[in-house]
Amino acid sequence: MRSVISILDLSTEELDKLIATAKDIIANPVKYQDKCAHKKLATLFFEPSTRTRLSFEAAMLELGGQVLGFSQASSSSASKGESMADTAKIVSCYADIMAIRHPREGAPFVASRNATVPVINAGDGGHNHPTQTLADLLTISRELGRLDNLTIGLCGDLKYGRTVHSLIEAMSRYPGIKFVLIAPEELKLPSYIRYNVLEKLGIPYEEISSLEEAMPQLDVLYMTRIQQERFEDLSVYERLKDSYVLNPEKMALAKEKMCVLHPLPRVNEISVKVDDDPRAAYFRQALNGKYMRMALILMLLEEAQRNPQREPLDETDLVYDLHCNNPKCISAVEQELPQAFRLTDKEAGIHRCIYCEQKA
Ligand code: CP
Repeated sequence: MRSVISILDLSTEELDKLIATAKDIIANPVKYQDKCAHKKLATLFFEPSTRTRLSFEAAMLELGGQVLGFSQASSSSASKGESMADTAKIVSCYADIMAIRHPREGAPFVASRNATVPVINAGDGGHNHPTQTLADLLTISRELGRLDNLTIGLCGDLKYGRTVHSLIEAMSRYPGIKFVLIAPEELKLPSYIRYNVLEKLGIPYEEISSLEEAMPQLDVLYMTRIQQERFEDLSVYERLKDSYVLNPEKMALAKEKMCVLHPLPRVNEISVKVDDDPRAAYFRQALNGKYMRMALILMLLEEAQRNPQREPLDETDLVYDLHCNNPKCISAVEQELPQAFRLTDKEAGIHRCIYCEQKA
C-alpha cells in the first residue's frame, strides 16, 4: 500500500501511465463508471478548497464509489486537539482511501505513517500539492502534445506557491526543460527547490522580474496567486499583491502556440479579458484535475488491494537530535511527533526535516 505525499512518490513511468489512464477515462467514461463500486473516499479538508475537494469527490463518484469527510477543521475533532496521527487511524476505519489538505506542512505525511489506507496529499501549507501537478501535466500534454523540450515560465509567488514546487519537481524529470522564474525579490523560489532540484539536476533556469520580457520565449506560462493567507506581515502582502497582472497586451507578446495555466483561484493576476484567448487553459486545467484524480485513486486502490501493508519508513540517514525551526511545520504544534531529519546532501552535510523539508 502506498501514499502520495510528494510528486516524487511517483516515477516518470507512473506519471506517464496516469496521463494515459486519464486520457482513456476521457475517451471511454462508461468503462470506468463502476471501477470503485463499494469503495469510499474520505476528504479531510482542514483548509478551504473548491477545486481540489470537489474534483476529488466528483472523481470518486464518477468511478462508482462514495465519499465522506469534512471541509473545515472546525467541524472535525482536530478543533478539540486530536492529533493528525489519531485522525488518520480513525478515518482508516471508515474509508478505503483519504485525501488530506492541511495548513501545516508535513501533516499528510504524518497521516500516511499512521493510516492503514492510502493517503493523498491535497495540499500542505506552502509545501506540496502533487495532485495539482497531475492536473498541470495532463493539461500541458493535452494542450501542447508533449511534456519535453519546453520553456516554462513560473510567475508570482514562487516562495509559498506549493503548486510551483511540485510542478518544478515533476517537469525537471523530462528532457529539454528550461524554467524562467518571474517573481518579486521577497517571493523567490525557496533554496531547497533551487539547490535540491534545479542545480543538482543541472536544469537550466533564469530569474527575471519582468513578465513582458519573459513572454516571447515561453511555451507554458504558469501564473500563481500571491497568497494572503501565507503572509505573517500583511503590509508585505499589500505591497506585493499586484506585482504581475496578465492582460491581452502581454498575451500579444507570446507565441501563437503556448498555454497559460493557473491552479486557481485567481484574484487579480489574470485579467478576465484573457479568458477567451484560446491559449488560456486554466479552466480546462481544473477539469483535467478530476480525470487525473480518478486515475490516481484507481492506481492506489489497485495497489492497496494487491499489497495492503504500509511501506516501512526509510530509516536511511535519519537523525533525531536536530530541531525544526519552521513555524508552519506540523512538528511545531504536535509535540509528540519526534523531531526527525534526513541527510539529503552528504557532500554539503545538509539535513532536512522529514515533515516539511526545512533545512536544519
Ligand atoms: N488549485 C487548488 O488547489 O484550488 P482549491 O484551493 O480551490 O482546491
